[in-house]
Amino acid sequence: MQYRLYSPSNSTEGTDVTVIGVFQDENIAHVLKAVLIETGLLKDELAANIEQTAAYDKFTGKANQQLLLPTYGTFPSKKILLYGLGSNTVWNASFSRKMSATIAKVLRNNQPGKVIIVLRDSFEAEDTTSSAEKEADTKEYTKKGKVSSDAQSTDSKGKTPLFKKLTEARAKEHVRAIAEGWTLGSYSFTKYKSTENHEKPGKDVLFEFAGLPISEPDLASACHPGQTIADATNLARQLIAEPACYLTPTKLAEQAKSIADEHGLSCQIMAEGEIEKLGMGSFLGVARGAKEPLRFIVMKYLAPQSKKTVAIIGKGITFDSGGLSLKPANSMEHMKYDMAGAAAVIGAMQVVAIEKPAVSVIGIVAATENMPGSGALHPGDVLQAMNGKTIEVNNTDAEGRLILADALTYAVQQGADEMIDLATLTGAIVTALGRVAAGIMGNNQELIDNVIKSGAKAGEKLWQMPMFEEYKESLKSDIADLKNAGARGEAGSSAAAMFLQEFCGGKTWAHLDIAGPGWLEKPREELNKGGTAFGVRTLSYYLLNL
Ligand code: BES
Ligand code: MN
Ligand code: ZN
Repeated sequence: MQYRLYSPSNSTEGTDVTVIGVFQDENIAHVLKAVLIETGLLKDELAANIEQTAAYDKFTGKANQQLLLPTYGTFPSKKILLYGLGSNTVWNASFSRKMSATIAKVLRNNQPGKVIIVLRDSFEAEDTTSSAEKEADTKEYTKKGKVSSDAQSTDSKGKTPLFKKLTEARAKEHVRAIAEGWTLGSYSFTKYKSTENHEKPGKDVLFEFAGLPISEPDLASACHPGQTIADATNLARQLIAEPACYLTPTKLAEQAKSIADEHGLSCQIMAEGEIEKLGMGSFLGVARGAKEPLRFIVMKYLAPQSKKTVAIIGKGITFDSGGLSLKPANSMEHMKYDMAGAAAVIGAMQVVAIEKPAVSVIGIVAATENMPGSGALHPGDVLQAMNGKTIEVNNTDAEGRLILADALTYAVQQGADEMIDLATLTGAIVTALGRVAAGIMGNNQELIDNVIKSGAKAGEKLWQMPMFEEYKESLKSDIADLKNAGARGEAGSSAAAMFLQEFCGGKTWAHLDIAGPGWLEKPREELNKGGTAFGVRTLSYYLLNL
């Protein structure tokens, strides 16, 4: 993808579509006139035609309402898309992300090569500016000298409609989100489709943004992380989409290694021998029922003048059958996505490697299958975790916490100042929050709040669940320090988090249970159905401090 500022001296020739946003109930004639005056895009006759069609089609600027109009050779852009932005009070960067993804999907069959997007604030917001400011703005237009006398003409009330620019900060957030959204919306996984009869993947697009108050380098530095984050999200989505027969723990480790090599991260892959030496009895226990060997993956990014080290830790169960506490068939169907936490960590590490934040980051993935082979854990077995604690495995299907226990201990021993784990950990969180939001829990409210905020900016919802001491009661074992599964049907997500907390050594920690939003049964907003790679964006926004 390429991103640049539109200027009237750029050729509009070869533009596939020009996107003009309209806020709810704005006067379309005013919008078109303001766009014409500010950017020189459009023509008076064309604007009049668009206005008529918009009225006929009852286009009111309602959120996500679309009117795609051909220009029949009267204008260098093949199509004009009016896009409803809804109310200005809720219009934010996440809206732009979804808009961009939606347009990428709508235009998929056109395979556009060049898109112009006009970005501005609403007339409503304009009304809050002082009249002195308005006058100054109007003078600005005239000064620029790009306004034709025709375009200067005023509306029926004798007032020149004003093109209200976004603030610099808002403009940067929106263009980043648009860059992100387009690439997210263009994703499709067609590797196993043998016919041509499937959605075409999107191709590279040249974007020109019109109406922005920022410079070309500012535009580039705003879009770059957006593009990087979306590319990494799509990479993680591919990893999740791969069936368990292809994406084994060995393969996952190879993928992590090749990403690390490509982007200059260090990457250590540990196999059974080394994992044994580290004393990861809990992780090893889960792997016992599988024929596929386990892997422990450590990717490192060292910031030049690092202020702190953040460990991001992913659950990498490449298939969760439940083990001997076997899942029923319909609960097992999609369990290739039980490595979505690992995919998010690997994706975020790619972003970190490219965008180079000010903090050091260690990406840690514990990868294994959870299978009921003849060596499998028996319910009732006792394991000793790396930190010395003993665990009675009363349910082999509560395997995620067993592998994370040792991964957390490892992160503590690596000297992490802060730990964030991501895991498709409990069915209970899907019951509580559906597929809309991830659960977040932890031992440090400031970290939790910051991660929730990063998620909101990144377009990923997180909802905090409690860590009441009482939940620990359910994890008491008669014969060991802990058991791995609490009472069925009682605060399952919180109980799981209470278990993980036992392995954090008092270090600052947050846990994201992504079982819900990690997988969609039907497409939603910028996402397709299937694996979403939830967490890549939240982690990236958090670590890059966007
Ligand atoms: N991977 C599952 C959790 C899960 C369920 C993810 C549904 C996505 C969708 C996890 O390993 C699991 O089986 N958890 C058990 C825990 C229970 C045995 C305490 C669960 O949620 O039923
Ligand atoms: Mn399980
Ligand atoms: Zn699992």
